[in-house]
Amino acid sequence: MAKISVFGTGYVGVVSAACLAKDGHLVVAVDPIPERVAMINAGQSPIIETGLEPLVRGAVANGSLVATLDADQAVLDTDVSYVCVGTSSNRDGSVGLAQVTDLCGIIGRAIAAKDTYHTVIIRSTIVPGTMDEVCVPLLEAASGKKAGVGFGVGYYPEFLRENTAVADYYDPGLIVFGALDHQTFALLNLLNRNMPCVAHEVDLRTAEMVKYTSTAWRAVKVTFAHEIGNISRACGLDGQVVMKLLCSDDRANLSADFLRPGFALGGSCLPRDVRALRQLARAKDVAAPLMTAVLQANEDQIERAAQMVADTGEQAVGLVGISCQPGDDLRESPLAKLAARLIAKGLQVQVYDPNVSVAHALDADASGGSNDVIPDLRDRMVPSIEALIAGSGVILVGNSYAEAAAPLAAAMKDHPMVDLTRVPPSVVSDGTYQGIFR
Ligand SMILES: NC(=O)c1ccc[n+]([C@@H]2O[C@H](COP(=O)([O-])OP(=O)(O)OC[C@H]3O[C@@H](n4cnc5c(N)ncnc54)[C@H](O)[C@@H]3O)[C@@H](O)[C@H]2O)c1
Repeated sequence: MAKISVFGTGYVGVVSAACLAKDGHLVVAVDPIPERVAMINAGQSPIIETGLEPLVRGAVANGSLVATLDADQAVLDTDVSYVCVGTSSNRDGSVGLAQVTDLCGIIGRAIAAKDTYHTVIIRSTIVPGTMDEVCVPLLEAASGKKAGVGFGVGYYPEFLRENTAVADYYDPGLIVFGALDHQTFALLNLLNRNMPCVAHEVDLRTAEMVKYTSTAWRAVKVTFAHEIGNISRACGLDGQVVMKLLCSDDRANLSADFLRPGFALGGSCLPRDVRALRQLARAKDVAAPLMTAVLQANEDQIERAAQMVADTGEQAVGLVGISCQPGDDLRESPLAKLAARLIAKGLQVQVYDPNVSVAHALDADASGGSNDVIPDLRDRMVPSIEALIAGSGVILVGNSYAEAAAPLAAAMKDHPMVDLTRVPPSVVSDGTYQGIFR
């Protein structure tokens, strides 16, 4: 049983407070709004949420939940503080942190007066870096203690959906948290020990980023469904049926497939079909901004890779793989487009791609299976990865081939490398190695 002060009695705060109290913890809910405090102490929920009021009523009745205006006393009376205050949107779109920063000062000053270890867990939504750069310095300054040593710090984002918040609390899709200290990790694991879901331990910034990634992903899904609905309607079709069928495929459509950060998309279908759908929408006079954004973002990703290569200052580029994927052909290969861009910038590009070499050998007239961007590709092909490395200033890894792994790992030591595949996964970007996503 833990003693927990929950700061903020909005959606996240009341649901957390009531559920923690139901789970057997002693909870003090804190809010500067007297009406909210009075409602909770009267056994009422200050927000309308399915199943919440009985939880509040029961917890207040058995003494496991009490609400107060007195923040200092709440910190003194508990071992852990959950920060669930609001974060607004500033005029420029940045996150408004005023409630969080005020509260860090309040809690920090209260911690200064304690001689027992107190842990501060932020649950409000804050952009990556806010814990390290804003919250922790404020808490340290106000408490006069070192974070992770004199008091505990964690970031534990909330993913609940309004209307199903209590159900989501007990059956979450994702639990992830970051912390500065072992005690805080242990505490968060203890508080989540009965959840039917793995609790993921990460660093503070990753936990902050996962929260925004989750929100943005949900927003993109909603927008995508609306765009498909609009195009379907313009075609006299029922978008609900279309989306329902799309969602029935949990292998490719609703799965982790196609959700890895990486290089640009390509191949015989994806770019072509997005272009065609956008064109269909235009013909029907329906806006399809997401389709336009997909195509633009893809072009930008190719340019980003080209810039990474240019930034090395090397003139001789050794491209490992030029087909869309290992063993694939060159139709709409973003690697072929990237190579063409580098050639246009005046760089010398040589290519190792065993499958394209075989295609050349089999067909004397072929330029590499639907290669429409590099007319002299045949002359740029080299027969082995070793020969490619020997002739390269910078190595550009576009595809992974088993026989290339060891020579590339060795070459990384004395060649600048731009890696679009993340091979090997353990290597992180430094002076000579740059991964497109690391
Ligand atoms: N609402 C959701 O569904 C949801 C879901 C996940 C995450 N979040 C995030 O969680 C955070 C809280 O969201 P919310 O919807 O519960 O916010 P809210 O605005 O509904 O409630 C915030 C509460 O904090 C109180 N407060 C302000 N300053 C305080 C202080 N110094 N001490 C104590 N209480 C104080 C306010 O009076 C208010 O009651 C936000 O960052 C939000 O983005 C919200």
